[in-house]
Amino acid sequence: MFILGIETSCDETAASVLSDRTVLSSIVSSQVALHERYGGVVPELASREHLRNIIPVVREALDAAKVRQQDLGLIAVTHAPGLIGALLVGVSTAKAMAYALHIPFIGVHHGEGHIVAAHLEYPKLEYPYVALLVSGGHTALYHIRNFGSYELIGQTRDDAAGEAFDKVAKLLDLPYPGGPVIDRLSREGDPKAIPFPRGVREGSDFSFSGLKTAVRNHVALFRSKDRGLDPGLKVADVAASFQQAVVDTLVEKTVQAAASRGLRSVVMAGGVAANSGLRSSMEKGCQSAGIRLFIPGMGLCVDNAAMIALAGYLRFSRGERSALDLNPRASMGL
Ligand code: KG4
Ligand code: ZN
Repeated sequence: MFILGIETSCDETAASVLSDRTVLSSIVSSQVALHERYGGVVPELASREHLRNIIPVVREALDAAKVRQQDLGLIAVTHAPGLIGALLVGVSTAKAMAYALHIPFIGVHHGEGHIVAAHLEYPKLEYPYVALLVSGGHTALYHIRNFGSYELIGQTRDDAAGEAFDKVAKLLDLPYPGGPVIDRLSREGDPKAIPFPRGVREGSDFSFSGLKTAVRNHVALFRSKDRGLDPGLKVADVAASFQQAVVDTLVEKTVQAAASRGLRSVVMAGGVAANSGLRSSMEKGCQSAGIRLFIPGMGLCVDNAAMIALAGYLRFSRGERSALDLNPRASMGL
């Protein structure tokens, strides 16, 4: 069966065509250049840009897959969570196409998409496992017994990890989105230069707001109203020390969650899973605990529509589908 996936929850307009579980095409049109000068995503601009891009992106995905729209058997679309106006563009497009083509459509939770992305890369990945979902909107650990069964182990009490990366980048006058920039800068800095706090030590919950405040306080020592940031501030050291604090917490809690449940596999997903420091530290942490780690490649970690198409296909295979009155939702648990 050919499945069209559509993703418009934030600032990427994405479409993908799958043949069952095989990715035939995955097109992502990023709006980063549009939002960069505002230092973050401007929701109204995002919606308008999705509206401009969605049809060309869908067409490109179909063309690249060499699939005609009349050969599609299912349309899957992110319907929650995300920016409501942005979600609306994808959901309306999916509904209109499904109605016109007389085929079923299904709404997908964005977080579920991120987690199942690992199955696109590793077809032999077996349940159960612990999933760490780390993106701009999520930081949570789940015990996943099977597809669709998500037991929340712990989550952030304040900012998501990606949000912390983006906010810290702003404090350092670095461009948006901050994650990839801090990742790059960290390679030139000393991760031990500044002993930033590690947040909540006990339990499986996360907290990144104390860390963010510690970075702000540190940077404030080097900032003056009229002259901006003092060149004496070692930005690469701040970036590396901040990143190390986030990475240490994520690795420690993830390994602990898996080990305490006797689970031998960990899946790491979401935009922050693209972080090179996190990838290598998680690899080491899991290896020394005898746990196998599965991380999707970069393109499947950041927002894309292939993961949405797969989640939709798996739900559809269980007999699920959405009615045409399905509405997008800005927030929704997994
Ligand atoms: O999953 P995603 O594309 O969108 C959401 O669902 O939120 O994640 C975006 C987040 C942003 O906060 C971005 O700064 C972060 O992922 N990110 C990274 C890296 N690449 C993207 N954070 C750290 N290191 C990276 N290499
Ligand atoms: Zn995402």
